[in-house]
Amino acid sequence: MTDKTDLQAAYRLRTPDDSKRLYAVWADTYDSSFAADMDFALPGAVAKAFADAGGRGPVLDLGAGTGLCGAALRALNITPVDATDLSPEMLAVARRKDIYATLFEGNLLERLAVDDGTYAGAVSTGTFTTGHVGPEALDEVVRILAPGGLAVISVHAEHWQAQGFGDKLDALGDAIDQLQMPLVRIYGDKGHGAHKDDLSKLLMFRRAQ
Ligand SMILES: C[S@@+](CC[C@H](N)C(=O)[O-])C[C@H]1O[C@@H](n2cnc3c(N)ncnc32)[C@H](O)[C@@H]1O
Repeated sequence: MTDKTDLQAAYRLRTPDDSKRLYAVWADTYDSSFAADMDFALPGAVAKAFADAGGRGPVLDLGAGTGLCGAALRALNITPVDATDLSPEMLAVARRKDIYATLFEGNLLERLAVDDGTYAGAVSTGTFTTGHVGPEALDEVVRILAPGGLAVISVHAEHWQAQGFGDKLDALGDAIDQLQMPLVRIYGDKGHGAHKDDLSKLLMFRRAQ
């Protein structure tokens, strides 16, 4: 696989096993061949939105990958931050950066090894996207948040429509409040190619008290 095909391949994923296979071979070059090359802006945008909304630690970074959002949170003095991801290879890259307090493998489409109400915050960038994680994982996000805890989760705009995130939010009802959904660009001015103008919703809410 060449660097240029990685993003296309990521959008063609269908199952967690597909993800594990792709990210196992992509992990070591993800930061350079994708994030730097595409001017990937989402991790910084999510961290800033979390901080601006009064978010605080402890935070769990969901689908943390190589740790780009964790690094952005740390630059804003938000600590501690833990990381979970399906891919041990992506987590291994993140571990070497010494950003996270705890890192553990987990599948957001199943139950995470986290007690109810553990975290004051939850963030996610680039994981609620085509071929990855859909709205069904929002139950798990709510479960791991403490009452009043803040979630800021990027959801690819096309994925939002295709997977029915609006219906899921309706179903969550009174379990969440202070819902906001600002639209942001995924890539900065140096992004290029077919996806350079793609948009993401920042799904922001607090677990009800
Ligand atoms: C595009 S990367 C984003 C990584 C990082 N958050 C970032 O912004 O650079 C998507 C990540 O989602 C993870 N992932 C995919 N499916 C998952 C699942 N079901 N549960 C947990 N993580 C998953 C992948 O292993 C990968 O690290």
